[in-house]
Amino acid sequence: MTILVTGAAGFIGSNFVLDWLNQSKEDVVSLDLLTYAGNLENLSSLSQNSNHHFIQGSIGDRNLVSELLKKYQVGAIVNFAAESHVDRSIHESKDFIETNIVGTYNLLESARSYWNDLDKNLKQDFRFLHVSSDEVYGSLNLTDPPSNESDPYKPNSPYSASKAASDHLVRAWFQTYKLPVLTVNSANNYGPFQFPEKLIPLSILNALNDKPLPIYADGQQVRDWLYVKDHCSAIREILINGQIGETYNVGGRHEKTNLEVVETLCAILDELKPKSNGKSYVDQITFVKDRLGHDKRYAIDASKLERELDWRAQETFETGLRKTVLWYLDHEAWMDHVVSGEYQEWVKKQYS
Ligand code: DAU
Repeated sequence: MTILVTGAAGFIGSNFVLDWLNQSKEDVVSLDLLTYAGNLENLSSLSQNSNHHFIQGSIGDRNLVSELLKKYQVGAIVNFAAESHVDRSIHESKDFIETNIVGTYNLLESARSYWNDLDKNLKQDFRFLHVSSDEVYGSLNLTDPPSNESDPYKPNSPYSASKAASDHLVRAWFQTYKLPVLTVNSANNYGPFQFPEKLIPLSILNALNDKPLPIYADGQQVRDWLYVKDHCSAIREILINGQIGETYNVGGRHEKTNLEVVETLCAILDELKPKSNGKSYVDQITFVKDRLGHDKRYAIDASKLERELDWRAQETFETGLRKTVLWYLDHEAWMDHVVSGEYQEWVKKQYS
């Protein structure tokens, strides 16, 4: 089965493409608009792989997507393409509405028209897998049970509202047109190739450059952390064995406060890359003003996925974080390239 992966040069998309091609000789068509967070360097190890086809373009370009679906006889679409950073959505939400909502709508329509014309067997096997977020369930109190698939949607940020809207469109295209969709709502991912606007890679970058490690408010907000390769293995399982029309939550059962995350990171860095002055990276932690509408806690109940598809996360938070730190220490050039240009503007806007 040839798959079309959208947002394939972004963080989770590129990890997924690399893992997929590591295990399969079937073709992958990678589509990415290459905006600030998309980086062809993430896929550079595939430059000699004849099963990989990269196309620069938008999920909203119906002509292009229709052409790709037909040309490569695509059997499944995995939609990672999205604007994903909450703080950016607070500064300016337009791109989030355009990509996450209108883009998903256009992709669904391109898929529907292609799928309608497929022969019976191909039509039956086709899948549209939409990758979404646990943020659509809104903020939990510390004593609430983790979010499960039947919980109501209560998104609070422009980002999570745009993802919630896209999930609703995907659901409606199944209910109305019977397009064979699957939706995946995942916890906070971390790992190789993550753009350093998110908490973990930003903290690694700043720690190594002797800059403050900015923690919003008191750092007591809780997130559920999932190593990106575990997310990719879950998506693969859901794509192959998931029930069409269903939603699956993916989480690592690793709830941590933001302060705990950054302190653990500092301890790993102290061990792997001790500072020359003998001090700990923890000294660089700086409490800064809070994010507007900052959600207190996200937590994911992944028991449906574990029960029905026998999936388990392989990494603990400590093993996953250690792998992540090692990857960044080993990829200084990658980091140097992504932090040039637009990134500097963003840091000025957000943290000055
Ligand atoms: O929960 C899944 C979501 O996780 C994804 O859907 C989003 O695309 C992804 O960006 C992520 O959202 P978060 O807002 O939770 O991730 P972020 O890394 O931006 O922030 C994690 C926590 O750390 C959050 O409580 C805000 C806090 N934070 C973040 C940054 C960037 C800080 O304290 N300081 C910072 O500088």
